[in-house]
Amino acid sequence: MKSSKYNFRWKSVDAGLAEMGMLDSGVVFNNDTVGWKLHRRLLKSGLQGQAFLNKVAVISCRQADKLRNKFVPSEEHATPNMEIDVAKWFKLFSLDTIGIIAFDKDFGALDEGETHEMTKGVVDMFKAWKHFLLTPFIVWKYLMWNASSSHIAKLAHFRNIERSIIQAARNKLHTAKSNRKIANAALMDDLEEDESADLNNFPCRLVLFQEQALRCGEMNRGYEQNNINGASAAKPSMQSAACTTSSDARMTSLTHTTVSPSAVHGTSKMAPTQTALSEDDLCQSIREMIMGGTDTTSNLLAFIFFYLAKFPLEAAKVRNEIISIVPSSFEDPEFLSRITIDKQMPRTEAFIKEVSRLHSAVPLILRHASEDDIVGGHLIPKGTNIVLNCAASAVDPEAVTEPWLFSPDRWQDSSPSSELSKAVYPFGYGARNCPGQYVAMIEMKSVLARILPHISIHLRELGDELETEFDIVNHPKHDTLVLKISALCTH
Ligand code: HEM
Repeated sequence: MKSSKYNFRWKSVDAGLAEMGMLDSGVVFNNDTVGWKLHRRLLKSGLQGQAFLNKVAVISCRQADKLRNKFVPSEEHATPNMEIDVAKWFKLFSLDTIGIIAFDKDFGALDEGETHEMTKGVVDMFKAWKHFLLTPFIVWKYLMWNASSSHIAKLAHFRNIERSIIQAARNKLHTAKSNRKIANAALMDDLEEDESADLNNFPCRLVLFQEQALRCGEMNRGYEQNNINGASAAKPSMQSAACTTSSDARMTSLTHTTVSPSAVHGTSKMAPTQTALSEDDLCQSIREMIMGGTDTTSNLLAFIFFYLAKFPLEAAKVRNEIISIVPSSFEDPEFLSRITIDKQMPRTEAFIKEVSRLHSAVPLILRHASEDDIVGGHLIPKGTNIVLNCAASAVDPEAVTEPWLFSPDRWQDSSPSSELSKAVYPFGYGARNCPGQYVAMIEMKSVLARILPHISIHLRELGDELETEFDIVNHPKHDTLVLKISALCTH
């Protein structure tokens, strides 16, 4: 699946995607290679870099502290064995966290709860995706027409929220430009250098990119027009002066490699002919950042808490590791990055990996073969839709000894090239793998680091099993997972 022959997603849900306004847009379901590459690079640019990951660590830890206060309001007055629906709380946590990380915006879901507009919006969105992508075309188109209309209305409502996020970014950039009297290019350079600037976030990057691409596209078109009209060759220097600042270079590096007619004819260095992003494209990117970053992380966190309750001895090992490395100073960013980014929590990481082995948040990966291929002696003809069953591979007895045994120990000495690591790939494979995996790992480790030393977790009934359901992602049955939580005395 690492081969570029499998860079496409499953190609049989185009009608559903078109109905939702998502056909050939965004990252997750985009099958237009050029558009997918551009969207993916843009999204990744908003999720990487050491400074960014440090910010993720600090924010996740702060949000985890907020969540801990919801679980155990105060150590003295906490009711022992409080029954808490952890699935619900992690949903709110991950929504707020991605809001602050990616958009510099606290949605306030942890404070308001499930009635929060964004919380309801995300639930509606997943329901709509399920309806249009997993229900047969004939059914949603003709037999469930009323339900389809209702989903479309909810999607339209959510698009308004996305638009407001984009508009707020545009206003911020406009104000910054007029206050500092600088152009987009200089602003983009500032943004790179000044990590603390409140413009250094995903929506601002999207808007800047869009405006920059438009500007260069217009200049190229103007120059091409001049050439067609037989204008003199004095223009190339003007054009390159306008489009070759460092930010332009970065922008070009973000764009695809399609060559414009002018480049073919040697009249232009830049080729941003198809780089323009529509307003809907920007909204789609916002939507995917929210959708990609919420239910996946929150469901896996809920599964992790279930296993902490089910295996108290293993939980104690994780808790002890955390207590041994967590100093009292919470605000020390170096400490935060050390515990959540660097690999200094082997026991905690092994626990997370073992849970995702048995309960992957995304158990099926959908791909499409764009060329003929031979795999293990079998022909995969061009055009084949492929389902990779990660959940099955993770319990394959040929790669995993005692596959049904919950044993974080198995990860202690496993290298990335081991049979075990190859069989378990919760974040996918190759060019289409998950661009949010580092963010997700930091969030999960932060939650464990900030919460586990302060609470003990128990099953509601001894012998409870984790029941999950799968649609777009794997989630606890009925989206609830109730556990008993008590405060641990930490003095
Ligand atoms: C525990 C948390 C997460 C899990 C288990 C997970 C898992 C996955 C998997 C299995 C894929 C498909 C990979 C493939 O086809 O090879 C994927 C794709 C994706 N994920 Fe995640 N993910 C998580 C968190 C996140 C976060 C936090 C974000 C963003 C902030 C994100 C954004 C995306 C996007 C945009 C794609 C589509 C990539 C593409 O098609 O090029 N995910 N994820």
